[in-house]
Amino acid sequence: MRVLLLGGTTEASALAMALKGNGIEAIFSYAGRTNVPMAQPVETRVGGFGGIAGLKNYLRDARISHVVDATHPFAATMGWNAHSACAGCNVPLLRLERPAWRAKTADRWIHVPTIAAACDALPNIPARVFLAIGRMHVDQFAACPDHHYLLRLVDPPVAAIDLPDHTVVLARGPFDVAGDIALMQAHNITHIVAKNAGGSGAVAKIEAARKLGLQVIMIDRPHRPKTEKAAEIDTVLHWLHHSAERGV
Ligand SMILES: NC(=O)c1ccc[n+]([C@@H]2O[C@H](COP(=O)([O-])OP(=O)(O)OC[C@H]3O[C@@H](n4cnc5c(N)ncnc54)[C@H](OP(=O)(O)O)[C@@H]3O)[C@@H](O)[C@H]2O)c1
Repeated sequence: MRVLLLGGTTEASALAMALKGNGIEAIFSYAGRTNVPMAQPVETRVGGFGGIAGLKNYLRDARISHVVDATHPFAATMGWNAHSACAGCNVPLLRLERPAWRAKTADRWIHVPTIAAACDALPNIPARVFLAIGRMHVDQFAACPDHHYLLRLVDPPVAAIDLPDHTVVLARGPFDVAGDIALMQAHNITHIVAKNAGGSGAVAKIEAARKLGLQVIMIDRPHRPKTEKAAEIDTVLHWLHHSAERGV
């Protein structure tokens, strides 16, 4: 058995640990979005495969027997590519995915389908917005230049951020509620824009918003292929052992 683990999430790192602990040979794959990706206890590769065709070649060349897609819920392109490539190469694929967050009674969420819609959902008067969506898509908020934006990033931005009024804070999660309350109070935040990532690593800001009574503009998850799914590491291990027993 030789597993390709598509990573970039807390769950992927936890699974890498479990695979190592169970003596299962695995290759951890990072897209290469951060300068210093977290070290993994298994063999690691970095960078795109070159679309579906590139991934198919990789699966064959690296003699991959199973793929676990543990990419972020918003990394949909990789999910679709893995789905097509695995089907094309007859390699079993499992999606490891944390359940989405659900609003609780005290939450003030506005659900939006896309980042552009989140921008449209901001108020007409200037607000102080915690833009908790990573670096990749922040420039889309240049369409709403009247607000102050707080950005929390893993790495210092390489290119200038195209927002007239913003502050960058550098930090790597997981975060805690007390820290996020302090951060939001220090920056007089009135609104939060977040992706519905689910899981525990990024939920502190949502709980902090609930405690502070702040409005959250929640970007719902993109459409992904219908792939067999697991929410827990143990389920992945069971799936691997089970398919190995069946000789898949
Ligand atoms: N999107 C988010 O909000 C978010 C948040 C936290 C972490 N991440 C992580 O950051 C990575 C990139 O996210 P994204 O939204 O740009 O993904 P994406 O839109 O689904 O992927 C874009 C391209 O990046 C490459 N790629 C993505 N994940 C990869 C992986 N694990 N290993 C090798 N190549 C990968 C693939 O390139 P090729 O077509 O060349 O193979 C893919 O077509 C993902 O691994 C994801 O888990 C994303």
